[in-house]
This record gives sequence, structure tokens and C-alpha cells, in this order.
Amino acid sequence: MSDLDAIVLAAGRGTRMRSALPKVLHSLAGRPLAYYPVRAALELGARRVVVVVSPDAKDAVERALSQHLPAAPLQFAIQEQALGTGDAAKAGLAALSGSAQVLLLYGDTPLLSATDLEPVLAPLRSGAALSLLTFQAPDPTGYGRVVRDASGQVCAIVEERDLSGAAQRRIDEVNAGIYAGNAKVLSAALATVGPHNAQGEYYLTDVVAEIAKTGPIGSARSDPSVLSGVNDRHQLAQAEAVLHARTRARLARSGVTIVGEPLIDDGVVVDTDARIETGVRLRGNTKIGARTVIDVGCVVEDVELGSDVTIKPYSVLVSSRVHDGAVLGPFCHLRPGSEIGAQAHVGNFVETKNAKLGPGAKANHLAYLGDVDVGARSNVGAGTIVCNYDGFAKRRTTIGQDVFIGSDSQLVAPVAVGDGSYVGTGTTVTADVPAGALAIGRARQENRPDYAKGLRERLRARADREKTDREQTEREQTDREQVQREKK
Ligand code: UD1
Ligand code: CA
Repeated sequence: MSDLDAIVLAAGRGTRMRSALPKVLHSLAGRPLAYYPVRAALELGARRVVVVVSPDAKDAVERALSQHLPAAPLQFAIQEQALGTGDAAKAGLAALSGSAQVLLLYGDTPLLSATDLEPVLAPLRSGAALSLLTFQAPDPTGYGRVVRDASGQVCAIVEERDLSGAAQRRIDEVNAGIYAGNAKVLSAALATVGPHNAQGEYYLTDVVAEIAKTGPIGSARSDPSVLSGVNDRHQLAQAEAVLHARTRARLARSGVTIVGEPLIDDGVVVDTDARIETGVRLRGNTKIGARTVIDVGCVVEDVELGSDVTIKPYSVLVSSRVHDGAVLGPFCHLRPGSEIGAQAHVGNFVETKNAKLGPGAKANHLAYLGDVDVGARSNVGAGTIVCNYDGFAKRRTTIGQDVFIGSDSQLVAPVAVGDGSYVGTGTTVTADVPAGALAIGRARQENRPDYAKGLRERLRARADREKTDREQTEREQTDREQVQREKK
């Protein structure tokens, strides 16, 4: 349908979420809740999507959706007060002047895809002015019930709180909240809707009975598993579990080895023959190259990993880049702005921040590398710390190529260590080291021959003296206490 526009209703109060955050901004597999229906509408071919938002959430919703759907034909309409879905639909239609066919969705149904929406359009092609999706709910609680007449035609939707009579209460066919219809007919019908119901709201669902007066309402039954709405945080968690399971299945089918149940955000891209282990969390804008292994328990957020990279267990990587063949972890921490060169190694308890390691560079154990460039093939020894902060400002340190930094050294920024130089173990580097030099800054060691035996004897004698003194003091104390008791 080439002239289809869409409206996504996202201005509700979301009371059941019990949250200060607008419901449609709650995160679901790394995307705001409202992202999913908007994307489904776009995939179905909607020319433009109007998102109806509340005045106070407008900026935040607009920012979030534009970030996740850059360049999408989105428009935002404000519903001044949350007077109900009918009132929200009015606000949406007003923003869409000149539309012929409109798809109407709720912002809180994240599991549906364009394929799931497709059946709602078919009845329009055969002349229906309004069409909707329904499903058979094992537990219809909370959903509007679809009322059909004797001939089986949809004639009304009755919300749970407005049900009357045993016959209505027995209905288990419910309204999925997905509608498509002629924009003019919808606007005219919405004008007749009033707040005459248990909640005192303008119900979009009331247009069904109104339009049914003039012609048949199209309907299609669909799969309940994709239509469930998110009204509270339990349903949010359930929907997220479904999205995660789908992502695992999709990646596995595309040639990624998935072990156990890693949790992978919607936008993450993983190349073939990569292996993602159990307990891994991949977030945000993360890309993983071919044959790369992310072992148990790693958290990776907004990181680009090349191919043949190995991330050993329990590493945390944020806003960084790792080139082909690098080996990281276990237990390493890449903080934002880190770039790890091809074949480089970052080992146990190494923390990097705004650090660039060249190809083949190594920092294998216990180091802090903040605001530093480490050249190709240089080796940073265990316990090395780049002192990048003086309490006021951060400064940068440069380590050249083929440098050896001995264990337990400190580099006090700003400082430059030249190519091929050697920093002796335990050195505090405060001045630049020229290329090829040895820098050593520690007290010189002195050996006293045969000194140890005498030293031991003196130390033992002192300990013995101290023990005797202690015992004497204790005896005197006990005696004093004895005298006290006898006096009483
Ligand atoms: C709605 C339907 C119900 C259907 C169910 C499917 C109505 C009256 N009821 O009920 O028949 O079975 O969805 O999930 O439509 N919203 C606004 N402005 C408002 C009120 C709501 O934009 O003033 C938005 C909300 O942000 C939400 C959507 O509309 O995204 C649905 O609102 P909600 O209150 O969740 O409706 P339900 O009670 O679930
Ligand atoms: Ca809902």
C-alpha cells in the first residue's frame, strides 16, 4: 500500500509501570519500547510515522527515537492530556493531513514485525473502511473484548472494565490494538466518541461500533505471542526475554555459535563463526567480527571487535575498538576511548582508558593505562601505572615502539618514552626517555656478606626480651587483682 501512513500512540501515562520514566522509553533489548512498533510500521512500508507523545515526554521520546532510527520519516504530535487512546488517535490524525490510509498502533506492543501487521491491510483492499487484528487470549484480562453479531461480523469492542453480562465476560477473542483504516472515516468516527465509560476516557476502540453502523469491519486473527502489550515491568521483562531469544535464534541460524543464553541487544551485529558464550551481555552499537570469541560473563557495550579476537572470561569493554587477532582478559577492563591494535594482548586486571595500544603491544598483568599511546610491540610489565591525573588535569603519555617497561613502574604524565628504550623495573619515570636509552630510577641495591645470621640472632633476642617483659607485666596485673579481691 503506497499511500499508507502510520500513527503510533505513545502518550499514555503508563501508570502500571510505576516509574518516573515514560513507559515508551523503558529499555527493551537496548531500544526504547516505542522503537519496535515504529520500526514495524516503517518495514511495512509506511511513508511516514507520527508518534503521539505527551508534552513532558516529547523531547526525550523524540531524542531517543531519532537516535535509534536516524533518517526515518518520523513526525511527532502532542496529546496535551492523556484523555485516552481515542483522543491520542485524534492528535495523530490531525498531524497527518492528506493521508488516505492509516495504520494505527500502540507504542507498547514491541514484539510485532511487519509480517505480523500485514494481515490488517488485506480487508482494506477489499473495501473495508476499518480493519483490526484480534487474537484468542487464554487469559483475556486487561484486553478489550471483540463483540461479534449473529452473523460473526465484528460490531464493537468492549473494554474489560465496561463488560456487561455473562455472555460478554465469556468472550476470549481480544483486541490486539492494531488497526488500519480510511483516514477520513476514522476522523469522522472519532468525532463521535465520548468519555462515557468506566475510566472516563476517550476510547479509540469506540470507533469500531460507530463504523460498523455503515459497513463491515475487517478483522484478522493473529498469533497472540507477538501481540502482547507491555503494561507493567513484569510484562516488560517477559517481552525482553522473547526478543533476546529471537536474537539468539537469528544469530545462530546466520552462523554464529551461541552457547547457553547470552543476552544480546537488538542492534548488535555478529559475523559468522564467532562464538558467544553463556552469561555474556552485548549491548548498544556493538559489532563483532568473524571467528571472534567472547567467553563466559563478558559485558561489551558500544565496542567494535575485529575478526579472530579472543575476549577471555569476565572482561568488561565499553566504547572502544579492538583490532584483528587481539587477545584480552580474563578480567580486563577497557574504558571509553581505548583502541587495541591487531594481535595485541591485554591481560588480567589491566584497565585502559583513552589508551591506544599499537599492533602486537602487550600489557599482560595488573596495569593502569590511562591517556596513553603504546607503540607497536612494546611490552608493559606487571604493576605498571600511568599516572595520568594530578588531581586537577589529565595529561597524555607516549610510549614508542619496541619499548620495554619493567614491572612496577610509574609513568608520571606528561612524559614520552622513546622507541626501543628500556625502563628498569620499579622506575618512576618523570622525565622523557630518549630513544634507545635505559631509564632506571630506584635505590641501588647493597649486599652485606654473611650478615643474615647475626641479624637473625639479634631479632630473635629482641623478640624473646619482649615476651619476657609481657609475661612479667601480666603476672603483676594478676597479683594486683588478687589483692583487690581479698580486701573485699
Ligand atoms: C488498549 C485497548 C484494548 C486492547 C489493548 C491491546 C483502548 C481503549 N483499549 O488497552 O482494547 O485490547 O490496548 O494491548 O484503546 N495512549 C496515549 N494516550 C492516552 C492513553 C494511551 O497515547 O491518553 C497510548 C499509550 O501510550 C499506549 C497505548 O496508547 O502505548 C495503549 O494504551 P493503554 O493504556 O496501554 O491501553 P490498554 O489498557 O492496554
Ligand atoms: Ca497497553
